[in-house]
Amino acid sequence: MSANNEEMVVTPWEVSGKIDYDKLVREFGTQPITPELLERIQKHTGTLHPQLQRRIFFSHRDLDWILQRYEAGEKFVLYTGRGPSGPVHIGHLVPWIFTKYLQDKFDAKLYFQMTDDEKFLYHDEFSLDEPQKWAYENALDLIALGFDPKKTRIIMDTKSMGTLYNLAIRIAKHMTFSTVRAVFGFQDSTNIGMLFYPAIQAVPAFLESELEGHNVPCLIPAAIDQDPYWRVTRDVAPKLGFYKPAQIHCRFVPGLGRGGKMSASMPETSIFTVDSPEVAAKKVMGAFTGGRATIEEQKRLGANPDICSVFAYDYFLFMDDKEIEDLRFNCLAGNIMCGECKQVLTERVKKFLVEHQEKREKAKDHFEEFLFNPKDI
Ligand code: TRP
Repeated sequence: MSANNEEMVVTPWEVSGKIDYDKLVREFGTQPITPELLERIQKHTGTLHPQLQRRIFFSHRDLDWILQRYEAGEKFVLYTGRGPSGPVHIGHLVPWIFTKYLQDKFDAKLYFQMTDDEKFLYHDEFSLDEPQKWAYENALDLIALGFDPKKTRIIMDTKSMGTLYNLAIRIAKHMTFSTVRAVFGFQDSTNIGMLFYPAIQAVPAFLESELEGHNVPCLIPAAIDQDPYWRVTRDVAPKLGFYKPAQIHCRFVPGLGRGGKMSASMPETSIFTVDSPEVAAKKVMGAFTGGRATIEEQKRLGANPDICSVFAYDYFLFMDDKEIEDLRFNCLAGNIMCGECKQVLTERVKKFLVEHQEKREKAKDHFEEFLFNPKDI
């Protein structure tokens, strides 16, 4: 369990400790999303998505460049993905919901990569059929969010590799061992599949350009832990004559425990999309809050929404601006107790799950329509 005072670790495989997002921007060399940039986005989208307004998406590379190309009449494609190692929890949905908004507002095609190969290589205990099974299960969650089947292609790595391979090896030829070792911290004992894998995660960034036969800008919405992949991808791009992919980075959705992101390896503090409403309710009722030891004390001193996982859920997913503002005020003022807050969140989560699970069932009939396959070429 990651406590809040632990040292920050952010890699594609581990996120723990207290996350200092400003420090990440500095260390990774990305750019903060400025008010000017938000204004420029809003010109095209009409309204700003709450995830932009609330700085859940907070950092970028070349977002200004993507907008410039767009303003000059050049469409871009979106690319994001998922390492299918288990069920999806509602934290995973946060960037996907945002990606759907981008697809709608910019009429953009989306490539979504399911990296069953990556998860097979990474997890010693996995047989190949395990991540393959999760790739299908997780795709249902993606489809349930309402992506447009005409504009969305889900790439199942192990199924589509024939098509991806020509690009993967051209990319791989420009990535050296010394680079990937330095960027990803690979060891002598790391299996060689993992060493090659960064080339595979780079492929969808160039796929549209390759298939179209001319350069198409690509924007990658993803949590900031994936940034090392984009650094090596961007290095290779000009060597192959492609545009560098742009990124827009989001924060990690916290779990229901104390500190740390929601993680499938901590099921008691993660709400899975396939949890029954009753199970999810229990998890919310057991959540870590910013409350005081006694009701009397809380009434007198108020509570702390900034460390509260219940507040975080309302903030990331469930409440509009007015509700959030009121809740924050009442929490700080000691006007509302944690039990009430948990109750409100429980109802929202239950409603969300019931609706999502219905759409998820329906998605089973549409899975094939979303698959990337060589016929698309
Ligand atoms: N490596 C990612 C993971 O483990 C999966 C992934 C592949 C991805 N391509 C992506 C995530 C593009 C975000 C954007 O989850």
